[in-house]
Amino acid sequence: MLKTFTRLQAVPALKRPYYRWSSTSTSLDRINAKRKEAHDGGGQKKIDAQHAKGKLTARERLALLLDEGTFRETDAFVEHTCTDFGMAEKSIAGDGVVTGQGRVHGRPVFVYSQDFTVFGGSLSQTNARKILKVMNQAMQVGAPIVALQDSGGARIQEGVDSLEGYSAIFQQNTLASGVVPQLSIMMGPCAGGAVYSPALTDFTFMVRNTSHMFVTGPDVVKAVTNESVTQERLGGSKTHTRTSGVAHNAYDNDMEALQNMRDLLDYLPLSNREKAPVRAYAEDQPGEDEALDTVIPTDPSVAYDMREVIRRIVDRHSFFEIAPEFAPNILVGFSRLAGRTVGMVANQPMVSSGALDIDASVKAARFIRFCDAFNIPLVTLVDVPGFLPGTAQEDGGIIRHGAKLVYAYSEATVPKLTVITRKAYGGAYIVMSSKHMRGDYNVAWPSAEIAVMGAAGAVEIIFRHHPGKEALQQEYKDKFTTPLAAARRGYLDDIIEPRTTRSRLIEQLALLETKQQQNPWKKHGCMPL
Ligand code: HXC
Repeated sequence: MLKTFTRLQAVPALKRPYYRWSSTSTSLDRINAKRKEAHDGGGQKKIDAQHAKGKLTARERLALLLDEGTFRETDAFVEHTCTDFGMAEKSIAGDGVVTGQGRVHGRPVFVYSQDFTVFGGSLSQTNARKILKVMNQAMQVGAPIVALQDSGGARIQEGVDSLEGYSAIFQQNTLASGVVPQLSIMMGPCAGGAVYSPALTDFTFMVRNTSHMFVTGPDVVKAVTNESVTQERLGGSKTHTRTSGVAHNAYDNDMEALQNMRDLLDYLPLSNREKAPVRAYAEDQPGEDEALDTVIPTDPSVAYDMREVIRRIVDRHSFFEIAPEFAPNILVGFSRLAGRTVGMVANQPMVSSGALDIDASVKAARFIRFCDAFNIPLVTLVDVPGFLPGTAQEDGGIIRHGAKLVYAYSEATVPKLTVITRKAYGGAYIVMSSKHMRGDYNVAWPSAEIAVMGAAGAVEIIFRHHPGKEALQQEYKDKFTTPLAAARRGYLDDIIEPRTTRSRLIEQLALLETKQQQNPWKKHGCMPL
């Protein structure tokens, strides 16, 4: 199993520190009462209802996400200011969102956790200000922001004020992008424009069956288009982690999602000013793995599992795969090599022969840009027959979307290490972190094939009216089914034995630690979005 696995913890009992205070003054009594109010949220009945749906409360979630005893709450006493629709009498301290900071694996993180038991976790203006406070501080301090989303959306009673609250969060999400990692877990409903805050964050997890994201819910869909659709089909985790790509990973329950968020955070630097933490690794893992020498099938049309190759190259149990179900013809995720975080990008020959299509291009481009923004070196494993041909792809704009991948690799200045395991054809060869895109260390296994296209297609075009196509194909294969042509020109730095891949990458990563490269000054580029 490649996924990092840690045993799920039981939900720790929530502590109430205010009980320790002696009530010798009225003021302390009132403070205690308010703290208890914030702690209890919408009350036991609503907490029971939350549990009955298989969901944890906002505070239970934070207790699982953060290292024990590290949560420091801010703004527990904040209350909304709305007086319309009888809201003046309905105020609960904390106002439906629990905010603050804590630690994950000993490192700081800023958090907010929406409390569905208070007005359905809906977003009021004051509630938004609490969120903005932690976001601002996270950016100043340089620490990630984790959002636990469980909300009925804009607080209806507040009208435009709640919309102002959302706007301010979107603005702050945009400013924080590339400064500190922003992570979201969808743990309940998320409707309307509210989906755009998670969409602006770097990685979004969903909880299967209990979380939903849509711009308009099933009722509005029915009214506008007459289409009948369930919440699950419209905005469930399957839709978003397999089809739309809006969310990256899905988990069976709150605990699993939170545990995986802890694992993911451990791969990431705190901000764009820092490097990712270096973690201990099993030193008995050999630098050479003989099994890699025979991983490539003798028949070039037979697939093999690139996940297995990754597993044999990276530190044991260190592949946190991002979006495994979306565009599975490309694999992306975080690994470690001798304890250092790297971003892995790899074609997967098991799916569509590893060809690049629209979804694969977008998935990889976004991942590469995250790694580049946060100083995470990129390791690319290449086995790609080309871009997927056909009208569906051309109609969908493979040129525009493929250009995103070209852009992302070309723009990246982090160390870029590339291993061609088998096919590297045409434009896809160029795109997949080739030497020509400022690759720092480009090597191939002896099984590599680097050419403009495959033998059959090439001979059909250049010798269309020529007899003896088979002999010509063989001649073409002899010339190009080898990495020598590219190596002779210096387009590859070396041809290596597959078994030495791990040790070579570790060596080169250490060397490239001090790499410095800058792009020309600009306000920002015009990426082909
Ligand atoms: C105020 C809300 C609320 C909201 C829910 N509640 N949503 N209060 N504003 N947006 C309250 C309910 O009145 C109820 O209060 C409590 O939360 C729990 O809600 P229920 O409906 O009982 O829960 P459930 O059956 O689980 O349904 C959850 C739900 C549903 C699917 C989220 O509440 C719902 O459809 N809410 C509205 C969703 C929506 O359309 N929001 C606006 C989206 S537009 P009581 O007191 O009865 O317990 C938007 C614009 C953002 O967000 C724009 C940004 C640019």
